[in-house]
Amino acid sequence: MSDKTFVSELERYTKYANDVIHRYLPRETGTQKHLSEAMNYSMNAGGKRLRPILMYLSYRMLGGEGKEIEPFMASIEMIHTHSLIHDDLPALDNDMYRRGKKSTHAVFGESAAILAGDALLNCAYETMARSFRMGADPLLTGRAIGILAEKTGVHGMLGGQAVDVEMDGKPLTTEQLEFIYEYKTGALMEGSLMAGACLAGASDEQMEALEKIGSEIGIAFQIRDDILDVAGTQEVLGKPVGSDEKNNKTTYVTLHGLKKAGEDAQALTQRAVRRLDELPGEKGFLRTLLQSLADRKY
Ligand code: IPE
Ligand code: IPE
Ligand code: MG
Ligand code: MG
Ligand code: MG
Repeated sequence: MSDKTFVSELERYTKYANDVIHRYLPRETGTQKHLSEAMNYSMNAGGKRLRPILMYLSYRMLGGEGKEIEPFMASIEMIHTHSLIHDDLPALDNDMYRRGKKSTHAVFGESAAILAGDALLNCAYETMARSFRMGADPLLTGRAIGILAEKTGVHGMLGGQAVDVEMDGKPLTTEQLEFIYEYKTGALMEGSLMAGACLAGASDEQMEALEKIGSEIGIAFQIRDDILDVAGTQEVLGKPVGSDEKNNKTTYVTLHGLKKAGEDAQALTQRAVRRLDELPGEKGFLRTLLQSLADRKY
């Protein structure tokens, strides 16, 4: 796929994901409207929309053709954005910028940011439950909700965030670091690919392959995030650089250096792409998208 085709396809998918997400955001009305404003602030600030796009591509690759994927796409972005709002809080990474704007706690205050994160997480499950009314297979729908719940919770993203914060300022072994990356970042990528596949009626073997792909891509994604925290700029990233150093974090870069970190992110990506090539269905764009993440600029 040429660079030009890739860029215009990515724009098309991002626009589609944005349209879907906006349809499911809460209305900013009522006595509690300060809460919905705080929820929508970061959801509307932008972001790459990578997880809903991965979910949609996995659904289509495995033959999904319905609309029930859409509430799930909005939901995974709500879960992800909730993780970012909370990640930036003073008690976690204490960062003041996100997606090119002041972070939610910097604008709305800490208590509103905590509640906005909680409410977005809850809104994700309210939104997923809506797909039961869209004529989708109830067993597959229930199973997809279960997958995202597990990949978000103590055995997923939140488990990784907990260990990440607990280990601030402490040395880590390679195994501990990989645990943190697979859970805090890999789990939502795994969940995105798996839930999309599940809704399309994928087999257990296909779901297992997608879980491994999500894990490899997720670890590579976090390695690249750590590289950008050292070598990027706030202007391009839309979030502060040097956050990891400020929080005395052991990262892939502090353990292995920039060069090996880059090489390992590439190697993990190639492994994921080889695994993807063994799955059936149209995957040209998905393959190029996965490859593009290992040297992304933001
Ligand atoms: C940031 O995720 C948090 C990490 C897991 C590194 P993204 O880089 O996907 O953030 P947005 O959604 O584009 O803002
Ligand atoms: C956080 O990792 C991953 C999440 C689950 C939010 P980071 O703390 O490195 O993410 P950024 O750099 O703030 O986006
Ligand atoms: Mg963090
Ligand atoms: Mg952070
Ligand atoms: Mg980071």
